[in-house]
Amino acid sequence: MTADNDRARWNARYTSKRPTFEPQPILSDVLTAGISDGPVLELACGASGNAVTLASLGRHVTAVDISDVGLGQLRCEADNRGLTSHLDIVEADLSDYQPREHHYALVIATFFWDGSVFDAACNAVMPGGVIAWQALSTPTMTSRPFRIHHGALSARLPDGFTVIREHQGGVESHAWTCLYARR
Ligand SMILES: C[S@@+](CC[C@H](N)C(=O)[O-])C[C@H]1O[C@@H](n2cnc3c(N)ncnc32)[C@H](O)[C@@H]1O
Repeated sequence: MTADNDRARWNARYTSKRPTFEPQPILSDVLTAGISDGPVLELACGASGNAVTLASLGRHVTAVDISDVGLGQLRCEADNRGLTSHLDIVEADLSDYQPREHHYALVIATFFWDGSVFDAACNAVMPGGVIAWQALSTPTMTSRPFRIHHGALSARLPDGFTVIREHQGGVESHAWTCLYARR
C-alpha cells in the first residue's frame, strides 16, 4: 500500500469517528514499570491519548503519523489542554522516517506493525530507556499484513534489551501482542 493510500484510509477513519483521547492501557503499565527522564517518541500516534497523557505529565513528546486529519485532532486537543509546548507533531510516512538514535527515554507504538519501523524504534531508545509496542496479532506463524504472532516482538529485539513484560490479549480479529523492554 502506498503512503497516499495509507493517508487517505486513515484520514477517512479519523474523519468518521470522534477520538476519545484515552491512553492505551499499555501506557499505564509502562509508567508503573518506570521510565527515565527524557523525551518520548510515539510512532503511528494518530489522535493519541498516549501523547496527550505523556505531555500532561511534563514529557516532551514527538508524535509521528501519516494522517494529517488524526494529527490535526491531536493538535487541537493539545491546544485545548495547554500542552502544545510539550508536543512536536510530525506528519511523516514511517517508511521514510528516521528517528534520532539513542535519544528517547520511551519509544511507544500501539496498534501498528512494520518490522523496519520497529528496528528503527529500538535504535532510537536511549541507554536505560524503554521500547513499548503493541500490535494486532495472528494466531499462527503465518504472516498477515500489519500483524505479527505473539513472541515475535521479543524475538526481534536487538541485543542489549531486557524484556520487562510480553503478553497478549484480545480475541479473534482484535487479538494483540504487546511488549515492553528496557535497554
Ligand atoms: C490502528 S491506528 C493506531 C493509532 C494509535 N496508535 C492508537 O493506538 O489508537 C494506526 C495508525 O498508523 C498510522 N499509519 C499507518 N500507516 C502509516 C505510515 N506509513 N506512516 C505513518 N503512520 C502510519 C495511521 O494513520 C493510524 O494513525
